[in-house]
Amino acid sequence: MADELIVVFGGSGFVGRYVVKELARRGKRVRVPMRRPHIGQDLRVLGDVGQIQLVQANVRFPESVDRALDGATGVVNLVGILSEKGPQTFFNIQAEGAATIAAMASKRGLDRFVHVSALGAGRKSRARYAKTKTEAEEAVRAAIPASTVLRPSVMFGAEDTFFNRFAAMAKFLPVLPLPGFGSVKFQPLYVGDFAEAVANALDDKGARGRTFELGGPRVYSFKQLMQFIADTIERSRMLIPVPPFVMQMLGGVCGTLFRLQPLPINPPLTADQVEMLRADNVVQASGKIGTIADLGVTNLETVEAITPSYLWRFRPYGEFQAKQTA
Ligand SMILES: NC(=O)c1ccc[n+]([C@@H]2O[C@H](COP(=O)([O-])OP(=O)(O)OC[C@H]3O[C@@H](n4cnc5c(N)ncnc54)[C@H](OP(=O)(O)O)[C@@H]3O)[C@@H](O)[C@H]2O)c1
Repeated sequence: MADELIVVFGGSGFVGRYVVKELARRGKRVRVPMRRPHIGQDLRVLGDVGQIQLVQANVRFPESVDRALDGATGVVNLVGILSEKGPQTFFNIQAEGAATIAAMASKRGLDRFVHVSALGAGRKSRARYAKTKTEAEEAVRAAIPASTVLRPSVMFGAEDTFFNRFAAMAKFLPVLPLPGFGSVKFQPLYVGDFAEAVANALDDKGARGRTFELGGPRVYSFKQLMQFIADTIERSRMLIPVPPFVMQMLGGVCGTLFRLQPLPINPPLTADQVEMLRADNVVQASGKIGTIADLGVTNLETVEAITPSYLWRFRPYGEFQAKQTA
């Protein structure tokens, strides 16, 4: 419906772009609040002429969030960070930021609100990423009881951080470290399937006030995923178990170095991310908690079908690797 205006906070990120594209495909007008809209002009081509609007907003500044909601009929919050830098802390962005968006939306009487959390939120975790995701869920629900909370597992797609990051590591390192024995479990979900679930959640009255845990069709151990990545990029790499405290130290050093010497890229590993690697990242839907199928998304894409289409660039001879080895 062209009279609908969905505001997608975090619409400029990896997941956000797929969500914006899916909403535009369904004929909705989409507004993307960004810190630097001048560098996001490519987002406009995800929809028809004039269908996607970019505005300046920063969740740390409530007035800018309020302005961004002007005329909105629905809201999606995808704002998140993987590591902290300056005022971009987990608390400021994921907990306070979500609370601000929900409070401003509630003030305007908007209750069509989809909040994107992460698997692991709601369970006890020492990772600040997960803790602030839990705080965000609580704040959003308190402000808008009808909001829908989505907790996805790790997502894959051409621009993902998980598969691309470990493929890049496998390209440069002779060995791949496995925290513990690499037995922690993941249920990777294709970002396009997730975008469909977000769009369905916005339209589905039955999803209001509910929480969903979303995962892909298969569960893998971390070790299986590392082996799959090494095989896909055709580089034989030893997978070495590393005791959790050593990984914690590596993550701590890496995170601190990047904080002291800010670089335009995220640190490859932080202590918080190592902490996240201690708990299984799989769907535990039960009773009140729904799944991606409950949101009407079935026939999910698999890791094996999608990731080789973009991981080939990490092979020794890129797209020509098959010819070289033939
Ligand atoms: N990717 C995954 O595998 C995965 C798995 C589970 C859950 N999630 C959750 O899904 C959400 C999206 O993840 P992603 O992978 O797409 O992350 P991403 O690529 O890093 O995108 C993060 C988004 O947050 C925005 N943002 C950051 N700080 C902001 C601020 N101060 N004010 C306004 N916007 C701000 C960024 O916008 P600008 O920088 O353009 O302003 C960007 O659009 C996050 O909440 C994440 O925790 C992701």
